[in-house]
Amino acid sequence: MQKAGHNMIKPTLLIGTIFIGMTLVSASVAAAETPASLMTGYAATAGISPQDLSAERGATLYRSEHSGRAGTSVSCASCHTANPKQPGRTRVGKRIDPLAPAANPQRFTDSAKVEKWFRRNCMDVLQRECSAREKGDFIAWLSQIK
Ligand code: HEC
Repeated sequence: MQKAGHNMIKPTLLIGTIFIGMTLVSASVAAAETPASLMTGYAATAGISPQDLSAERGATLYRSEHSGRAGTSVSCASCHTANPKQPGRTRVGKRIDPLAPAANPQRFTDSAKVEKWFRRNCMDVLQRECSAREKGDFIAWLSQIK
């Protein structure tokens, strides 16, 4: 009896180990984006080739001022500063790590995080979501900053 019971545990452990292993692999795959792979994805969604993304348009998007609440003007640079290699500040003064990959290699490596913040910040600044092309342009500009 005891021996049979002991043997039953092994397949369960094995399946459990495989399952955990697969979960870890898929989690690391999900986060293994690069600025270039995200740009390729956004270009494909926009129906253009990655070479047609524009760092210049990305810089304009970053710097252009829009009228925010209570007559103040707001841009991406309001929080991320004029120089995206510098740390930024939220409205309540919390530090934001630099946005440029040259200064912060973790940037644009996690598509879920990137999407979450594009949605939130584009709504905040532009009062609409950014298009796929705008997101690609934005990363094109930030990732060519040395
Ligand atoms: C009100 C302040 C604020 C403004 C304005 C703002 N951001 Fe951000 N942004 C943040 C914060 C806070 C984070 C998340 C904290 C962090 O990642 O360090 C963030 C993170 C991001 C990220 C995540 C990048 C990554 O890979 O980690 C992107 C993309 C981004 N912002 C784009 C924009 C764009 C585009 C604009 C202008 C349309 C903009 N932000 C304007 C505060 C702001």
